[in-house]
Amino acid sequence: MNLESKVAIVTGAAGCIGSTTAKRLASDGAAVVVCDVNLELAQNVADAIIADGGRATAIETDVTSTESIDAMVAQTIDQHGRIDILVTAAGGSARERASTVHGSSVEVIKQVLDVNLRGAIFCCRAVVGQMIAQEAGKIVNVASIVALQGSPGHADYAAAKAGVIAFSKTLALEVAPHNINVNCVSPGLVPRPGTRVDHIPATNYLGRVATPDTVSNLVAFLVSDEADFVVGQNYVVDGGRSLGLKGRR
Ligand SMILES: NC(=O)c1ccc[n+]([C@@H]2O[C@H](COP(=O)([O-])OP(=O)(O)OC[C@H]3O[C@@H](n4cnc5c(N)ncnc54)[C@H](O)[C@@H]3O)[C@@H](O)[C@H]2O)c1
Repeated sequence: MNLESKVAIVTGAAGCIGSTTAKRLASDGAAVVVCDVNLELAQNVADAIIADGGRATAIETDVTSTESIDAMVAQTIDQHGRIDILVTAAGGSARERASTVHGSSVEVIKQVLDVNLRGAIFCCRAVVGQMIAQEAGKIVNVASIVALQGSPGHADYAAAKAGVIAFSKTLALEVAPHNINVNCVSPGLVPRPGTRVDHIPATNYLGRVATPDTVSNLVAFLVSDEADFVVGQNYVVDGGRSLGLKGRR
């Protein structure tokens, strides 16, 4: 994809999908603002992009704080004068969680909703003013197939990601008249470093393990000019997992 002259913000850009996406958009020519609550890891991603000949700046950003988001957006506009692309990849389920809603603490549920749902909403809210002024922009929010199916133990996360999809559809309609495209991608299981992978091929219909670039390839298309007529859609990248009852006939 040709993203020369584009300025892209990627949240959660120190993580598995976010870092792969940040590197992909940079290799396609974008100047990438690498945002993460973990500045040290975000800086490593930005350094790797620069070492590869790309353009990147790391900014510490906590998507649960509107002050932090607004400061990051203001710094991006100061530095680059525009924002063409936003990818919200900050998120994830709680690391230590109960197996039921009634067993989950209120704090954990609030944190999962804050990072995954409110984080995406407030990042979008913070950039659309600039995109409207430009009469152009592309936003991709990272949801999950868990939003489309039940997944015991992940009710808060499922609700947050379903909310991200619903929010994106409505935002898409609000801003489409300004030449801004908002869409979602919903990955299936994408192993992070250290995740056990031996069982994964049996969970999808391709029979193999997804890599983060299966997601970033799609994001790169959706933020490109080639996707100019794609509005308010949710694209599932899961090797067919959510289409059928694998192994339960
Ligand atoms: N990996 C998967 O199997 C999978 C599947 C479906 C959806 N997703 C979604 O994809 C996105 C990326 O997931 P991943 O697998 O790369 O996870 P990851 O844990 O590798 O990366 C998530 C990143 O978000 C950052 N983050 C967490 N809280 C934050 C906050 N408050 N502010 C800013 N950054 C914060 C973390 O520091 C981390 O770098 C998430 O939204 C996740 O829900 C992942």
